Amino acid sequence: MDSKKLTLSNGTPYFEHQDSQTVGPRGPVLLQDFILQENLAHFVRERIPERIVHAKGSGAYGKFTVTHDISQYTSAKLFSQIGNSCKMFARFSTVGGEKGSADTARDPRGFALKFYTEDGNWDLVGNNTPVFFIKDAKKFPDFIHTQKRVPKTNLKSATMMWDFWSLNPESLHQVLILMSDRGTPYGYRHMHGFGSHTFSMINEKNERVWVKFHLKTKQGIKNFTHAEAIKMAGENPDFAQEDLCNAIENGDFPKWTMYIQVMTEEQAKDFRWNPFDVTKVWFHEDFPLIEVGEMELNEIPVNYFAHVEQSTFSPSNLIKGISFSPDKMLQGRLFSYPDAHRYRVGVNSHQLEVNRCPFAVNNYQRDGFMADASNYQDKPNYFPNSFDTIIPDPAYKNYSYELDSAHVENFNRNENDDDHYTQPGLLYSKSMSSEDRENLINNIVESMKNIDGAKKSEIINRQLCHFFRANIELGMKVASKLHVSIDINMMNHAK
Ligand code: HEM
Repeated sequence: MDSKKLTLSNGTPYFEHQDSQTVGPRGPVLLQDFILQENLAHFVRERIPERIVHAKGSGAYGKFTVTHDISQYTSAKLFSQIGNSCKMFARFSTVGGEKGSADTARDPRGFALKFYTEDGNWDLVGNNTPVFFIKDAKKFPDFIHTQKRVPKTNLKSATMMWDFWSLNPESLHQVLILMSDRGTPYGYRHMHGFGSHTFSMINEKNERVWVKFHLKTKQGIKNFTHAEAIKMAGENPDFAQEDLCNAIENGDFPKWTMYIQVMTEEQAKDFRWNPFDVTKVWFHEDFPLIEVGEMELNEIPVNYFAHVEQSTFSPSNLIKGISFSPDKMLQGRLFSYPDAHRYRVGVNSHQLEVNRCPFAVNNYQRDGFMADASNYQDKPNYFPNSFDTIIPDPAYKNYSYELDSAHVENFNRNENDDDHYTQPGLLYSKSMSSEDRENLINNIVESMKNIDGAKKSEIINRQLCHFFRANIELGMKVASKLHVSIDINMMNHAK
């Protein structure tokens, strides 16, 4: 058949694309015009649910190349020798806004990577920040509600954000990063990426180390100031999408260097903080960055919906030699992402091109909505069987290990790891320049001045206490710019 002919979805060529079938030239329209029906019916089903978080995003394909040998830590085939490479897909995003929201909103940025490796697809679903607001997955839905909209007014609310943060002081570290100019990066090319959580690597000798992943931008860090970000949100809400597309289409391929930090199980026992607490970093002096490889993004997918909107990343997409850790947040995420994918894209989302493992996939899952065309053809759908030659390979056995404790409890968040202030204090006093500090304080004030309602003073005072406890100067400057007089109790509490 001539491939240029207009057809219905069943392939039948047709002519009447623009005029409905009517009784007489002025109507009415006939129910038998199934061409009209098909077009209208498909149109109203064009949307799938947007991601509950990270709804606005941009994606690109690229290549990851191993430049340094880390095979002493991991048995992953990808890292078995220098020069190995694999295709990859990256999706960057804002977090709280809807699919049409502005790219320059003050928000962490999602930094989700999919590596198509011979051991299977490995996803590193991180952010542009090394830490997170909370450290227990149970708090995530409540936290995210505060970043979304007020039930009654459907407006965003500084009151609920600061109420939650002030009541959950483990958020302080991430709040200081968010309120600095790193909360408004200049597009997606000029920011670092972090796996954030502690992961594990297991080598050929079955030895385990704890690992954090870092991706450092080769384009250099560049941020918008608060004023610039607001202006850009009005002028071009799709700034980051346009910036990424233009750079790649012009052959200016963005690159990042991957590093890992490694902590042995022995070091973990003596670490000052809980090594599995995602509100904490590991200082580079103690756990130096080890270079691993380079990621380059070089192709904007030919269709945004097919490849970017339908992409599904999950921290549970792990491969031999790279695994999870006891981090409570990470453990919650292992469940939540595949759950979201089954709801948002469907039970067979892993069969779509962007999500599919390009190497062999052999299992006994069958059928379901939108199973791909072959559906494993006539192969057996049960295990064990006497017909196929598929074997579970013992080389891929899970790592087995002893637990520190067999005591089960919902541990109170305040009993364990409640030093929420040392690292934020160091971030403020040691890592930030005086300009960074000034912008941070102005950005905090800009946001906190929108706190309103009956609990305004209570929320502001509670949050000021956290700032004081991290750094007295930080607390004083924010308080003075908010015109809050300092209560002696607040200072005492801060000591
Ligand atoms: C997206 C849950 C914490 C990074 C999502 C989605 C869910 C989710 C349900 C949407 C998935 C989809 O529809 O495809 C959670 C839960 C968390 C958590 C329950 C805490 C327990 C985090 C943390 C990070 C992170 C700590 C970063 C370190 C991301 C990214 C995406 C995402 C980058 C977007 C992935 C994409 O581009 O498709 N999260 N999240 N999340 N999350 Fe989380």
